[in-house]
Formats: sequence, C-alpha cells, structure tokens
Amino acid sequence: MNRRLEGRTALVIGAGAKGDGMGNGRATAILFARHGARVFAVDRDTDALEGTLSAIRAENGEVVGHVCDAADEAAVREMTGLCQRHYGRLDIVHHNIGINALGGPPELSVADWDRVMAVNVRSLFLAAKYSLPIMEQQGRGVLNAVSSTGSLRAARFEMAVYRASKAAVNELTREIAVHYGPKGIRANAIVPGQMDTPLILDYLIDVYGPGGIETMREARAQSVPLKRMGDAWDVAHAALFLASDEAKYVNGHLLVVDGGLTSTRRGG
Ligand SMILES: NC(=O)c1ccc[n+]([C@@H]2O[C@H](COP(=O)([O-])OP(=O)(O)OC[C@H]3O[C@@H](n4cnc5c(N)ncnc54)[C@H](O)[C@@H]3O)[C@@H](O)[C@H]2O)c1
Repeated sequence: MNRRLEGRTALVIGAGAKGDGMGNGRATAILFARHGARVFAVDRDTDALEGTLSAIRAENGEVVGHVCDAADEAAVREMTGLCQRHYGRLDIVHHNIGINALGGPPELSVADWDRVMAVNVRSLFLAAKYSLPIMEQQGRGVLNAVSSTGSLRAARFEMAVYRASKAAVNELTREIAVHYGPKGIRANAIVPGQMDTPLILDYLIDVYGPGGIETMREARAQSVPLKRMGDAWDVAHAALFLASDEAKYVNGHLLVVDGGLTSTRRGG
C-alpha cells in the first residue's frame, strides 16, 4: 500500500465514536494511521475514544489518546502542546467535532445556541489558534475542518444554529487558507451530506416521521441522486486526500461529499 502520510503527525479532534460504531472521526483516525501517520486522537468521551485507540493498535498503527473538551481554551492549549511535545511536530489538524440542535430561533434556547456554536465553531477557532503558530514555525501544515451540506442549503427540517455554525466553519477555514497559505499551511473543509454514522441516531430519527430508524435511513437515501447514504469512510478518504501531498495545490476548498445531494433542488 502507498502510505500517503508516512511520518506525519495528525491531531484528530473528535476521534471517538459510540460503541463499535464507525463515525467520521474514528474512520479518519484509523485511515490516517493506516497511511503511516502518527495519530494524536482526542475526544471528550473516554469510552468513545477507547474503541478508536484499540482499532488502530490492532493494526499496529501509532496512536496516543487524549481526553479533553475541545471547546475549552485551557484544554486545547494543553492538547496541542502535548501533541507537539510527544511527536516533536504537528503536521495535520483534523477538526471533526460537531453537534446539532434542531429548531428555528423561537424553539432554540440561548443555551442551545451557545452550546452548538461553542462545540462547532469555538473549538475550531481554538484548534487553529494553538496549532497555527506551531505549523508556521515548521513552515508547513494542513488544517481540515468537517463542515456539512447544511452550511450550503436547508434540510427538510429546521436546524438554524447547526447551519449557521457550519457556515462559520467554512468561512473560518477559508480565512485561514488565505492568510496562512503564504506560510505553507493549507486549510480546507470537508462538506458531508447524508452519512450513515451513529451521530444521526442522536438527532434525526423522529423528524422523518413514524417508522423509526429504517424510515429515516430510506428517506435519507432516497433524497440523494446516488440513492444511498454515504458512510464514514467516504469522509475519511476525502480527509486523507486533503491531508496528503496529492492535495498540495488545494487550499481554501470546500470538498462536498454528498452523492450529488447539493446538486438537487431540495435538501435531504
Ligand atoms: N453523520 C452525518 O450525516 C454528518 C453529515 C454532515 C456533517 N457531519 C459532521 O461530521 C462530524 C461528526 O462526525 P462523526 O460521525 O465522527 O460524529 P460522532 O458524534 O460519532 O463523533 C464525534 C466525536 O466528537 C466528540 N466530541 C463532541 N464534542 C466534543 C468536544 N467538545 N470535545 C471533544 N470531543 C468532542 C464526541 O464525543 C464523539 O466521539 C460533525 O462535525 C458533523 O457535523 C456529519
């Protein structure tokens, strides 16, 4: 196998997943390690992280786990410092964490708004704040952010704060691309659509009507031109491309991974 990240250090924020489920962050951490990256895997949930660590170690990959809240400034300062000290450098930051709260402005509480903006946007700002100076000193680095097609168009249900937060993720990423490109740092966002990951079970089962999980899965699949949902590996492969030297001229890009959803007239 052509190991596309050999010797690189990758900080994966939100690398866990529920139980033995395959989330975007877990698949990305595993794929990065398969391609030779030394992974610093971060999650706020010890159990969610453990499954990722054991999957990578079972394949003889190199990984260190770290538990912290990536929306907390002191924790992020410590996290980036630990990663740099442990591996001696920081080549790739992959920011995966994201949460949702359904509803429009009347339904959302101020606490919902602040929580989603903190987890989705402040954490990206903090990851950038503490990793960009390290990458600048190295003269190279890559920042990947995980956005959503919700940043580009409405879905069939209201999710005002999620959409606003992911639009902010896109523009923060592109702002970094413009100002850090001259310093050898590339920043791009991955924009997933209808992915079949454990996360959708948290928010979406009820909004597709009665029938539970299977109704939701079928409705999501049918909304996509490819007539199926994507999976965590689709996101992971996009992340691998953006993190690798094959994407050395890709900067400030929103890489849509949605089976054609955003080319259709209505959201999923
Ligand atoms: N599944 C989809 O259909 C879909 C579609 C579009 C975008 N996305 C995006 O994909 C990303 C998540 O994908 P996933 O499948 O890996 O989700 P996931 O929920 O399985 O995993 C995310 C991990 O992040 C961790 N996390 C959450 N908040 C944290 C915090 N403050 N500090 C540290 N860790 C934290 C969670 O504990 C969890 O283990 C999100 O950004 C989401 O918005 C998903």
